[in-house]
Amino acid sequence: MSTNFLYKSYPILRETVPHVELGNWPTPLEPLPGISAQPLLLVKRDDLSHPLYGGNKVRKLELILADVKRKGFREIITAGGLGSHHILAVAALGRELGLRTTGLFFCQPVNEHVLNNLLLEVEFGTEMHFVRDYPGMALQYLRFYLARRFNPRRKTYLLMPGGSNALSTLGYIGAVLEIQQQLREQGLPDPAAIFVAAGTGGTAAGLLAGIALAGMDTTLHAVRVVHPSLLGRRKIVGLARKSLKLLARKGVDIGDAASRLDERLLLEEGYLGEGYGFGTAAAQEAISRFREKAGIILEGCYTGKAAAACLDYCAARKGDARPVVFVHTASSTHREREVTATERDLPPDFRWCFAGSPCRRSCTLKGWNRSFCEMASRDNWRC
Ligand SMILES: Cc1ncc(COP(=O)(O)O)c(C=O)c1O
Repeated sequence: MSTNFLYKSYPILRETVPHVELGNWPTPLEPLPGISAQPLLLVKRDDLSHPLYGGNKVRKLELILADVKRKGFREIITAGGLGSHHILAVAALGRELGLRTTGLFFCQPVNEHVLNNLLLEVEFGTEMHFVRDYPGMALQYLRFYLARRFNPRRKTYLLMPGGSNALSTLGYIGAVLEIQQQLREQGLPDPAAIFVAAGTGGTAAGLLAGIALAGMDTTLHAVRVVHPSLLGRRKIVGLARKSLKLLARKGVDIGDAASRLDERLLLEEGYLGEGYGFGTAAAQEAISRFREKAGIILEGCYTGKAAAACLDYCAARKGDARPVVFVHTASSTHREREVTATERDLPPDFRWCFAGSPCRRSCTLKGWNRSFCEMASRDNWRC
Protein backbone atom coordinates (compact mmCIF):
# COMPACT_ATOMS: atom_id res chain seq x y z
CA MET A 1 0.00 0.00 0.00
CA SER A 2 1.15 3.54 -0.71
CA THR A 3 1.83 5.20 2.62
CA ASN A 4 3.41 8.51 3.49
CA PHE A 5 6.57 7.59 5.41
CA LEU A 6 6.21 10.41 7.91
CA TYR A 7 3.05 8.79 9.25
CA LYS A 8 4.52 5.29 9.08
CA SER A 9 7.51 6.43 11.19
CA TYR A 10 5.44 8.51 13.63
CA PRO A 11 1.94 7.00 13.91
CA ILE A 12 0.97 9.64 16.52
CA LEU A 13 0.83 12.15 13.65
CA ARG A 14 -2.22 10.37 12.22
CA GLU A 15 -4.17 11.83 15.12
CA THR A 16 -2.44 15.21 15.38
CA VAL A 17 -1.57 16.35 11.82
CA PRO A 18 -4.29 15.96 9.14
CA HIS A 19 -3.11 14.89 5.70
CA VAL A 20 -4.63 13.58 2.50
CA GLU A 21 -2.92 10.65 0.83
CA LEU A 22 -2.22 11.80 -2.73
CA GLY A 23 1.18 10.49 -3.78
CA ASN A 24 2.68 7.17 -4.87
CA TRP A 25 4.95 6.38 -1.91
CA PRO A 26 7.69 5.43 -1.68
CA THR A 27 9.05 6.98 -4.86
CA PRO A 28 11.90 4.89 -6.32
CA LEU A 29 15.50 5.47 -5.26
CA GLU A 30 17.48 4.43 -8.33
CA PRO A 31 21.23 4.09 -8.87
CA LEU A 32 22.61 5.92 -11.91
CA PRO A 33 25.90 4.10 -12.56
CA GLY A 34 25.98 5.47 -16.13
CA ILE A 35 26.60 8.91 -14.67
CA SER A 36 28.66 8.27 -11.54
CA ALA A 37 29.50 4.80 -10.19
CA GLN A 38 31.86 5.90 -7.42
CA PRO A 39 30.58 7.73 -5.56
CA LEU A 40 27.40 5.88 -6.44
CA LEU A 41 24.83 8.44 -7.58
CA LEU A 42 21.21 7.62 -6.74
CA VAL A 43 18.19 9.57 -7.91
CA LYS A 44 15.18 9.99 -5.64
CA ARG A 45 12.42 9.87 -8.24
CA ASP A 46 10.00 12.38 -6.74
CA ASP A 47 9.27 13.31 -10.35
CA LEU A 48 7.01 10.21 -10.25
CA SER A 49 5.21 11.15 -7.04
CA HIS A 50 1.73 11.55 -8.58
CA PRO A 51 0.26 10.11 -11.81
CA LEU A 52 -1.32 13.40 -12.92
CA TYR A 53 1.38 15.85 -11.84
CA GLY A 54 4.43 14.72 -9.83
CA GLY A 55 7.41 16.58 -8.40
CA ASN A 56 8.24 18.00 -4.99
CA LYS A 57 4.90 19.77 -4.47
CA VAL A 58 3.02 16.54 -3.81
CA ARG A 59 4.61 15.94 -0.40
CA LYS A 60 3.84 19.56 0.56
CA LEU A 61 0.29 19.44 -0.76
CA GLU A 62 -0.70 16.32 1.17
CA LEU A 63 -0.45 18.54 4.24
CA ILE A 64 -1.59 21.87 2.80
CA LEU A 65 -4.69 20.54 1.05
CA ALA A 66 -5.74 18.68 4.20
CA ASP A 67 -5.52 22.02 6.02
CA VAL A 68 -7.55 23.72 3.28
CA LYS A 69 -10.29 21.07 3.49
CA ARG A 70 -10.32 20.99 7.28
CA LYS A 71 -10.84 24.77 7.42
CA GLY A 72 -13.70 24.57 4.93
CA PHE A 73 -12.14 26.54 2.05
CA ARG A 74 -13.24 25.79 -1.48
CA GLU A 75 -10.71 27.85 -3.41
CA ILE A 76 -6.96 28.54 -3.21
CA ILE A 77 -5.16 31.64 -4.39
CA THR A 78 -1.44 31.27 -4.98
CA ALA A 79 1.38 32.70 -7.10
CA GLY A 80 4.49 31.85 -9.09
CA GLY A 81 6.44 32.56 -12.28
CA LEU A 82 4.87 32.07 -15.72
CA GLY A 83 6.08 28.47 -15.79
CA SER A 84 5.27 27.79 -12.12
CA HIS A 85 5.28 24.10 -11.18
CA HIS A 86 3.76 25.06 -7.85
CA ILE A 87 0.59 26.60 -9.32
CA LEU A 88 0.25 23.63 -11.68
CA ALA A 89 0.48 21.14 -8.84
CA VAL A 90 -2.00 23.07 -6.67
CA ALA A 91 -4.46 23.20 -9.56
CA ALA A 92 -4.05 19.54 -10.58
CA LEU A 93 -4.15 18.01 -7.11
CA GLY A 94 -6.62 20.52 -5.68
CA ARG A 95 -9.07 19.75 -8.45
CA GLU A 96 -9.03 16.07 -7.43
CA LEU A 97 -10.33 17.23 -4.04
CA GLY A 98 -12.94 19.56 -5.53
CA LEU A 99 -10.96 22.78 -4.94
CA ARG A 100 -10.58 25.68 -7.40
CA THR A 101 -7.24 27.44 -7.95
CA THR A 102 -6.60 31.07 -8.81
CA GLY A 103 -3.00 31.61 -9.97
CA LEU A 104 -1.10 34.93 -10.03
CA PHE A 105 1.76 34.76 -12.53
CA PHE A 106 4.81 37.04 -12.59
CA CYS A 107 7.40 37.31 -15.38
CA GLN A 108 10.18 34.87 -16.01
CA PRO A 109 12.17 34.02 -19.14
CA VAL A 110 9.91 32.24 -21.61
CA ASN A 111 10.99 28.96 -23.18
CA GLU A 112 9.25 25.81 -24.46
CA HIS A 113 8.94 24.37 -20.95
CA VAL A 114 7.22 27.54 -19.71
CA LEU A 115 4.84 27.62 -22.69
CA ASN A 116 3.88 24.00 -22.14
CA ASN A 117 3.21 24.69 -18.46
CA LEU A 118 0.91 27.60 -19.37
CA LEU A 119 -1.16 25.26 -21.56
CA LEU A 120 -1.29 22.71 -18.75
CA GLU A 121 -2.68 25.42 -16.45
CA VAL A 122 -5.59 25.77 -18.85
CA GLU A 123 -6.12 21.99 -18.82
CA PHE A 124 -6.06 21.85 -15.03
CA GLY A 125 -8.67 24.63 -14.84
CA THR A 126 -6.57 27.38 -13.17
CA GLU A 127 -8.09 30.88 -13.11
CA MET A 128 -5.07 32.76 -14.50
CA HIS A 129 -4.00 36.37 -13.84
CA PHE A 130 -0.81 37.98 -15.15
CA VAL A 131 0.62 40.25 -12.39
CA ARG A 132 3.92 41.18 -14.10
CA ASP A 133 6.36 41.44 -11.17
CA TYR A 134 6.73 40.91 -7.41
CA PRO A 135 5.08 44.18 -6.33
CA GLY A 136 2.27 43.45 -8.79
CA MET A 137 1.87 40.06 -7.20
CA ALA A 138 1.68 41.53 -3.70
CA LEU A 139 -0.99 44.04 -4.77
CA GLN A 140 -3.07 41.40 -6.50
CA TYR A 141 -2.80 38.98 -3.58
CA LEU A 142 -4.25 41.70 -1.41
CA ARG A 143 -6.95 42.65 -3.92
CA PHE A 144 -8.18 39.11 -4.53
CA TYR A 145 -7.91 38.16 -0.92
CA LEU A 146 -9.93 41.13 0.33
CA ALA A 147 -12.50 40.78 -2.45
CA ARG A 148 -13.11 37.14 -1.63
CA ARG A 149 -12.37 36.98 2.07
CA PHE A 150 -15.85 38.04 3.04
CA ASN A 151 -17.70 36.40 0.18
CA PRO A 152 -19.15 33.17 1.58
CA ARG A 153 -19.49 31.70 -1.92
CA ARG A 154 -15.75 32.13 -2.66
CA LYS A 155 -14.01 31.33 0.62
CA THR A 156 -10.38 31.61 -0.46
CA TYR A 157 -7.28 30.07 1.15
CA LEU A 158 -4.21 32.26 0.69
CA LEU A 159 -1.11 30.22 -0.14
CA MET A 160 2.27 31.90 -0.58
CA PRO A 161 4.40 31.19 -3.71
CA GLY A 162 6.02 27.76 -3.46
CA GLY A 163 3.74 26.75 -0.58
CA SER A 164 6.67 26.66 1.86
CA ASN A 165 5.71 26.88 5.53
CA ALA A 166 6.32 24.91 8.72
CA LEU A 167 3.45 22.54 7.97
CA SER A 168 4.31 21.70 4.35
CA THR A 169 7.99 21.33 5.25
CA LEU A 170 7.08 18.22 7.24
CA GLY A 171 6.59 16.51 3.87
CA TYR A 172 10.31 16.42 3.12
CA ILE A 173 11.18 15.24 6.61
CA GLY A 174 9.18 12.17 5.58
CA ALA A 175 11.20 11.96 2.34
CA VAL A 176 14.47 11.64 4.28
CA LEU A 177 13.09 8.83 6.43
CA GLU A 178 11.97 7.13 3.22
CA ILE A 179 15.44 7.53 1.66
CA GLN A 180 17.14 6.15 4.78
CA GLN A 181 14.92 3.08 4.77
CA GLN A 182 15.49 2.47 1.03
CA LEU A 183 19.27 2.75 1.43
CA ARG A 184 19.17 0.18 4.24
CA GLU A 185 17.12 -2.17 2.09
CA GLN A 186 19.75 -1.84 -0.67
CA GLY A 187 22.56 -2.52 1.85
CA LEU A 188 23.97 0.99 1.43
CA PRO A 189 25.23 3.44 4.10
CA ASP A 190 23.74 6.89 4.70
CA PRO A 191 24.68 9.23 1.83
CA ALA A 192 27.57 11.66 2.12
CA ALA A 193 25.45 14.30 0.38
CA ILE A 194 21.91 14.99 -0.77
CA PHE A 195 21.40 17.54 -3.58
CA VAL A 196 18.23 19.54 -4.18
CA ALA A 197 17.17 22.74 -5.96
CA ALA A 198 16.16 25.52 -3.56
CA GLY A 199 13.64 28.20 -4.57
CA THR A 200 11.41 29.21 -1.67
CA GLY A 201 13.44 26.81 0.49
CA GLY A 202 10.72 24.54 1.90
CA THR A 203 11.93 21.39 0.19
CA ALA A 204 15.52 21.99 1.33
CA ALA A 205 14.34 22.87 4.86
CA GLY A 206 12.39 19.61 5.11
CA LEU A 207 15.36 17.57 3.91
CA LEU A 208 17.63 19.39 6.34
CA ALA A 209 15.28 18.81 9.28
CA GLY A 210 14.90 15.16 8.23
CA ILE A 211 18.68 14.63 8.09
CA ALA A 212 19.05 16.14 11.57
CA LEU A 213 16.11 14.16 12.98
CA ALA A 214 17.32 10.86 11.52
CA GLY A 215 20.81 11.53 12.93
CA MET A 216 22.39 11.06 9.49
CA ASP A 217 25.99 12.03 8.85
CA THR A 218 24.91 13.72 5.60
CA THR A 219 25.34 17.22 4.18
CA LEU A 220 22.38 18.78 2.41
CA HIS A 221 23.53 20.70 -0.68
CA ALA A 222 20.75 23.20 -1.35
CA VAL A 223 21.39 24.65 -4.81
CA ARG A 224 20.08 28.19 -4.91
CA VAL A 225 18.10 28.99 -8.09
CA VAL A 226 16.76 32.41 -7.02
CA HIS A 227 18.32 35.77 -6.15
CA PRO A 228 20.03 35.96 -2.70
CA SER A 229 17.44 38.53 -1.54
CA LEU A 230 14.81 35.78 -1.77
CA LEU A 231 16.69 32.89 -0.20
CA GLY A 232 19.61 32.48 2.18
CA ARG A 233 20.89 30.03 4.82
CA ARG A 234 18.88 31.73 7.56
CA LYS A 235 15.62 31.16 5.77
CA ILE A 236 16.27 27.45 5.20
CA VAL A 237 17.56 26.78 8.73
CA GLY A 238 14.75 28.90 10.24
CA LEU A 239 12.07 26.99 8.36
CA ALA A 240 13.65 23.64 9.28
CA ARG A 241 13.68 24.72 12.94
CA LYS A 242 10.02 25.82 12.83
CA SER A 243 9.04 22.53 11.25
CA LEU A 244 10.88 20.49 13.91
CA LYS A 245 9.16 22.56 16.60
CA LEU A 246 5.81 21.81 14.99
CA LEU A 247 6.65 18.09 15.01
CA ALA A 248 7.50 18.31 18.71
CA ARG A 249 4.19 20.07 19.43
CA LYS A 250 2.40 17.28 17.57
CA GLY A 251 3.89 14.59 19.81
CA VAL A 252 7.19 13.54 18.15
CA ASP A 253 10.38 13.32 20.21
CA ILE A 254 12.83 15.45 18.20
CA GLY A 255 15.71 15.12 20.70
CA ASP A 256 18.50 17.58 19.91
CA ALA A 257 17.88 17.57 16.16
CA ALA A 258 17.49 21.37 16.01
CA SER A 259 21.07 21.85 17.23
CA ARG A 260 22.45 19.96 14.19
CA LEU A 261 20.70 21.99 11.46
CA ASP A 262 23.39 24.57 10.81
CA GLU A 263 26.25 22.10 10.43
CA ARG A 264 24.34 19.87 8.00
CA LEU A 265 23.56 22.60 5.41
CA LEU A 266 25.68 23.78 2.50
CA LEU A 267 24.05 26.44 0.32
CA GLU A 268 25.47 26.07 -3.20
CA GLU A 269 25.86 29.57 -4.63
CA GLY A 270 27.55 29.04 -7.97
CA TYR A 271 24.80 27.66 -10.21
CA LEU A 272 22.18 30.43 -10.50
CA GLY A 273 23.62 32.11 -13.60
CA GLU A 274 21.95 35.40 -14.58
CA GLY A 275 18.88 34.82 -12.46
CA TYR A 276 15.75 32.80 -11.80
CA GLY A 277 14.69 30.97 -14.92
CA PHE A 278 17.74 31.91 -16.99
CA GLY A 279 19.53 28.97 -18.59
CA THR A 280 23.17 28.15 -17.84
CA ALA A 281 25.67 26.09 -19.83
CA ALA A 282 26.32 23.86 -16.79
CA ALA A 283 22.61 23.10 -16.37
CA GLN A 284 22.27 22.35 -20.10
CA GLU A 285 25.19 19.93 -19.91
CA ALA A 286 23.69 18.19 -16.86
CA ILE A 287 20.29 17.94 -18.58
CA SER A 288 21.93 16.29 -21.62
CA ARG A 289 23.91 13.82 -19.50
CA PHE A 290 20.90 12.72 -17.46
CA ARG A 291 18.83 12.30 -20.62
CA GLU A 292 21.46 10.44 -22.65
CA LYS A 293 22.88 8.21 -19.91
CA ALA A 294 19.76 7.48 -17.86
CA GLY A 295 16.73 8.64 -19.87
CA ILE A 296 15.81 11.04 -17.06
CA ILE A 297 14.30 14.39 -18.06
CA LEU A 298 15.30 17.52 -16.14
CA GLU A 299 14.36 21.17 -16.79
CA GLY A 300 16.54 24.28 -16.79
CA CYS A 301 15.07 26.41 -14.01
CA TYR A 302 15.52 24.08 -11.01
CA THR A 303 16.61 20.48 -11.52
CA GLY A 304 19.19 21.18 -14.27
CA LYS A 305 21.04 23.60 -11.98
CA ALA A 306 20.90 21.23 -8.99
CA ALA A 307 22.11 18.35 -11.17
CA ALA A 308 25.03 20.48 -12.40
CA ALA A 309 26.15 21.03 -8.79
CA CYS A 310 25.72 17.32 -8.06
CA LEU A 311 27.81 16.24 -11.07
CA ASP A 312 30.62 18.64 -10.10
CA TYR A 313 30.58 17.18 -6.59
CA CYS A 314 30.77 13.58 -7.87
CA ALA A 315 33.61 14.46 -10.24
CA ALA A 316 35.60 16.05 -7.41
CA ARG A 317 35.14 13.00 -5.15
CA LYS A 318 35.88 10.12 -7.48
CA GLY A 319 36.34 6.86 -5.55
CA ASP A 320 34.28 7.86 -2.48
CA ALA A 321 32.54 4.85 -0.93
CA ARG A 322 29.46 6.63 0.39
CA PRO A 323 26.59 7.29 -2.02
CA VAL A 324 25.21 10.65 -3.17
CA VAL A 325 21.47 11.29 -3.59
CA PHE A 326 19.99 13.70 -6.13
CA VAL A 327 16.35 14.59 -5.44
CA HIS A 328 14.45 14.92 -8.74
CA THR A 329 11.83 17.56 -7.92
CA ALA A 330 10.22 18.28 -11.34
CA SER A 331 7.22 16.28 -12.53
CA SER A 332 7.78 13.67 -15.25
CA THR A 333 4.37 12.03 -15.12
CA HIS A 334 2.45 14.83 -16.85
CA ARG A 335 4.52 14.21 -19.98
CA GLU A 336 2.34 11.18 -20.72
CA ARG A 337 -0.62 13.51 -21.12
CA GLU A 338 -1.66 14.80 -24.51
CA VAL A 339 -2.07 18.57 -24.22
CA THR A 340 -5.09 19.71 -26.19
CA ALA A 341 -5.26 23.36 -25.02
CA THR A 342 -3.80 25.97 -27.35
CA GLU A 343 -2.64 29.55 -26.84
CA ARG A 344 -6.12 30.73 -27.88
CA ASP A 345 -7.48 29.16 -24.68
CA LEU A 346 -5.25 31.40 -22.53
CA PRO A 347 -6.45 34.75 -21.14
CA PRO A 348 -5.36 37.58 -23.53
CA ASP A 349 -2.80 38.85 -21.00
CA PHE A 350 -0.68 35.73 -21.56
CA ARG A 351 -0.74 35.47 -25.35
CA TRP A 352 2.40 37.58 -25.83
CA CYS A 353 4.38 34.65 -24.45
CA PHE A 354 3.54 32.63 -27.55
CA ALA A 355 3.87 35.49 -30.00
CA GLY A 356 7.60 35.91 -29.38
CA SER A 357 6.86 39.57 -28.69
CA PRO A 358 7.44 41.70 -25.58
CA CYS A 359 4.74 41.69 -22.90
CA ARG A 360 4.35 45.49 -23.38
CA ARG A 361 3.12 45.97 -19.83
CA SER A 362 5.11 48.41 -17.76
CA CYS A 363 6.17 47.03 -14.40
CA THR A 364 4.28 47.98 -11.27
CA LEU A 365 7.30 49.80 -9.87
CA LYS A 366 9.35 51.35 -12.64
CA GLY A 367 12.73 49.66 -12.91
CA TRP A 368 11.91 46.75 -10.63
CA ASN A 369 12.14 44.24 -13.41
CA ARG A 370 15.01 45.98 -15.17
CA SER A 371 17.36 43.06 -14.76
CA PHE A 372 14.80 40.92 -16.58
CA CYS A 373 13.98 43.47 -19.24
CA GLU A 374 17.62 44.20 -19.99
CA MET A 375 17.84 40.63 -21.20
CA ALA A 376 15.21 41.45 -23.84
CA SER A 377 17.34 40.65 -26.81
CA ARG A 378 19.28 37.80 -25.27
CA ASP A 379 18.77 34.06 -24.97
CA ASN A 380 15.29 32.79 -24.45
CA TRP A 381 13.85 35.96 -22.92
CA ARG A 382 11.15 37.53 -25.04
CA CYS A 383 10.06 40.49 -22.94
C1 LIG B 1 10.98 21.57 -10.06
C2 LIG B 1 11.21 22.29 -8.78
N1 LIG B 1 12.27 21.94 -8.03
C3 LIG B 1 12.55 22.56 -6.88
C4 LIG B 1 11.77 23.60 -6.42
C5 LIG B 1 12.15 24.31 -5.18
O1 LIG B 1 11.29 24.03 -4.15
P1 LIG B 1 11.18 25.05 -2.94
O2 LIG B 1 10.35 26.20 -3.41
O3 LIG B 1 10.54 24.25 -1.88
O4 LIG B 1 12.55 25.48 -2.61
C6 LIG B 1 10.64 24.00 -7.18
C7 LIG B 1 9.80 25.12 -6.73
O5 LIG B 1 8.93 25.59 -7.39
C8 LIG B 1 10.37 23.33 -8.39
O6 LIG B 1 9.33 23.67 -9.16
